[in-house]
Amino acid sequence: MTTKTGNLQHIAIIMDGNGRWAKKRGLLRSVGHKKGAETVKEITRAAGEMGVKYLTLYAFSTENWQRPAEEVETLMGLLREYLKSDLKELQENGVRIIFIGERSMLPADIVESMSKLEEETAGNDKMTLCIALSYGSRQEIVQAARKIAALAKQGDIDPEEVDAKMFAGLLYTKDIPDPDLVIRTSGEQRVSNYLLWQIAYAEFYFTDVLWPDFDRKCLEDIIKNFNARERRYGKI
Ligand code: FPP
Repeated sequence: MTTKTGNLQHIAIIMDGNGRWAKKRGLLRSVGHKKGAETVKEITRAAGEMGVKYLTLYAFSTENWQRPAEEVETLMGLLREYLKSDLKELQENGVRIIFIGERSMLPADIVESMSKLEEETAGNDKMTLCIALSYGSRQEIVQAARKIAALAKQGDIDPEEVDAKMFAGLLYTKDIPDPDLVIRTSGEQRVSNYLLWQIAYAEFYFTDVLWPDFDRKCLEDIIKNFNARERRYGKI
């Protein structure tokens, strides 16, 4: 029997622990990332089958640009491969793909593949897979603030009109609902500049499982745990 997702529409995941997974086995970090990319496919499939409507994955943060050039190159290589290879499966499973993050920092061929995948899957409606790539939440909030300041300066809006709805409409995530559940793998318990605005009322689940070992059963167990929680949104 598949686990029912109930009121759980949107799961956001911080995929952590690829490096430690490899180190434990005496392997290169790149091997951990490669296995992590396979987990991305398995979890996308599982989430779709379980009825999750939105899945957001943190694939590369703005801070990740500071990693050694060789590791950045490995991650970009895996992304290139993923972007080229996955169209058929996404189409078959009715998955719409979107990307959030600062595209101007990414290599041109990757940006082109991202736009192409977004266009080609735009009509799919079973699940939306949102990949956070070169993403930083503070940067996202700052660019929204800048846009609002410019609109006010031009006299197009009155500062009194600025509210949470207008602000949310200027974020990269303007077309998707806020996450209901944030999962972080690998035992770390932090948010790392991920969806800071959007997770205001999200539930959190931290698991010790390293991302390359994370599987369908892990996801099902976490969803069961989520379904047993009572969300009050500040009310009693
Ligand atoms: C954290 O592991 C993971 C990342 C920095 C990136 C996540 C990338 C993937 C899962 C692979 C590529 C993604 C796609 C969408 C094809 P870490 O290196 O921080 O691990 P550590 O904390 O154990 O060192």
